[in-house]
Amino acid sequence: MRMKRDAEGCRNRSSSLRGLIDRIQPHRVRMVGLAILSLLGASGEIGFILLVTSLAVAFLGGGENVSMVLGVSLDSSGAFALAGVLLVVRTLGNLGAVQVSAGLVASVTTYERDRLARSYLMTSWAVQQASQSGRLQELMTSFIKRTTETVATVAHGVTATISLLAFVIAGFVVDPLSAAAVVGGLALASLVLGPFRRGLRHRADRHAQADIQFAKGVAEVGGLGLEMKVFGVESAFIERLGLLIRDASNAQRRTNVLVNGLPHLYTSLLYAFMLGGLAIAFMMKASNPLALSSLVLLMLRSMSYGQQMMSSLATIAGNLPFIRSVDDAIQQYVMDRAPRGEARPKSVAPLCLNAIDFAYPGGEQVLSGVTISLARGEILGIIGPSGAGKSTIVQLLLGLRQPTGGVLRVGGVSMDLVDRDWLARKVAFVPQEPRLLAGSIGDNVRFMREGITLEKVAAACVVADLMDLVSELPDGLETFVGEEGGRLSGGQRQRVAIARAIAGDPEVLVLDEPTSALDPQSEIAIRAALDRLRGRMTIVLIAHRMSTVGICDRIAVIENGTISACERPGLLSEASDFYKRSLAASAEK
Ligand SMILES: Nc1ncnc2c1ncn2[C@@H]1O[C@H](COP(=O)(O)OP(=O)(O)OP(=O)(O)O)[C@@H](O)[C@H]1O
Ligand SMILES: [Mg+2]
Repeated sequence: MRMKRDAEGCRNRSSSLRGLIDRIQPHRVRMVGLAILSLLGASGEIGFILLVTSLAVAFLGGGENVSMVLGVSLDSSGAFALAGVLLVVRTLGNLGAVQVSAGLVASVTTYERDRLARSYLMTSWAVQQASQSGRLQELMTSFIKRTTETVATVAHGVTATISLLAFVIAGFVVDPLSAAAVVGGLALASLVLGPFRRGLRHRADRHAQADIQFAKGVAEVGGLGLEMKVFGVESAFIERLGLLIRDASNAQRRTNVLVNGLPHLYTSLLYAFMLGGLAIAFMMKASNPLALSSLVLLMLRSMSYGQQMMSSLATIAGNLPFIRSVDDAIQQYVMDRAPRGEARPKSVAPLCLNAIDFAYPGGEQVLSGVTISLARGEILGIIGPSGAGKSTIVQLLLGLRQPTGGVLRVGGVSMDLVDRDWLARKVAFVPQEPRLLAGSIGDNVRFMREGITLEKVAAACVVADLMDLVSELPDGLETFVGEEGGRLSGGQRQRVAIARAIAGDPEVLVLDEPTSALDPQSEIAIRAALDRLRGRMTIVLIAHRMSTVGICDRIAVIENGTISACERPGLLSEASDFYKRSLAASAEK
């Protein structure tokens, strides 16, 4: 069991490491630039430290000339001028590196967000519907932030590593034996801290999972605000969310302790090694004070780069699970792309469902052997008990899901071969619970589509019986409807959705319970509107109200996933008990 977990952990790690490398590879040139600038900065700093040490030793010795390591000597004013130049070189090198790394992070952020948004929007409806709410926001915000932070950390790590290497080489030039001892110390310290790094990876995995759970909890609370208030269960939700908050914070704390603690442990270990080295130098009575003090300064500074390097490694290890989550999501979105056929039949009619079977992934059969055919301009009603499969048929008609058996043909062409953009223009939809975007009524009717002129918007509003409302609004069609249309009533939102559907002049209009949220008066108006569209569009109308389906040419009754009857309204009472009972029930009302 443990071996299996370890093997999985190893595979996960290598895939997230691959993900990190894939993100850096397109920026190779920037990385090389970063390395060169870091080297420049480090060289300036090394020269400066050596020179300052030599100046201090010369000052203590009372001499005019400043003799440096490698036997080079300068007069004191020359040494001061050179130190100034080296300081400028160091500053320019480091600032240049900062500039390059900031540019790198900005372009990685843009690219990552674009890629995630694109892959999510292009994936199939089935994947979008199945992905838990809150997950996308979390991936898009905090997970992508972690990803770019990791790239930034790699950039800092490169700076630190190059600088460390430059300092170690300088140390070898000054005193090879002591420098070798320090390098050995660096490697040993890294080895000693190995188990801590592995612990960090486990904690980071846990942290990423806790963050996703927390985001899902937040999304749930956001969506259930009204129900919570009405049922008075705020405190139960506070407690539930509180558990997720604490879980996420604990996971964060446990990860941060290691991310921030590891570099300190590393540095303390190195200090200990250095102390040991100095003790040995004392015992061996090392006699060159200039070499010894230069070396000590170089090594002290190199340790701070070593600490930065260790800190970068710890941050990268802590962030890898977040990168893997982003990659897993993108892979899932890309693998399940919505089908993209190219066929553009002359018209949608005839629209034929032929022996259609359907089961949701991992679920039981919802539809079996559904066969219906729609002629151009026909109005077909679909009725049936709750859970019978009406909305499932709608999703198939819209090409959002593919049948598991049988064929659905559009204008004689199988639905999976049809061009989706063409289909979107030809088949419009009014959902059971329409959603509006934060914009005006006009924006919501246009819904980002090209070619929907103001005249078309106004005409659609007239048909959807919206004009009375629009004329009362301060800015007419341009009145802001609030976030998600929150300033409109359920019935008004429904009518905006109807106007949206007909504004594009589609050939087929599919409506899933369009009158469920409407008062009797508005229902009559919508029924009249649909009647006015008769002959102009083919209409598929799902409704619970028998009065609504009264305008249909034919009504199909669906029970337990099969069509139990399909007749003209006048003849259906004979053919369907369900219809008869429903008519009787609505007459009683
Ligand atoms: N996304 C889904 N995943 C799994 N099962 C689903 C999903 N959506 C619906 N179902 C199941 O499929 C069956 C048919 O659901 P559907 O939404 O088509 O019913 P409906 O006839 O539209 O009902 P209603 O009148 O209540 O809207 C139900 O048993 C439901 O539980
Ligand atoms: Mg439904």
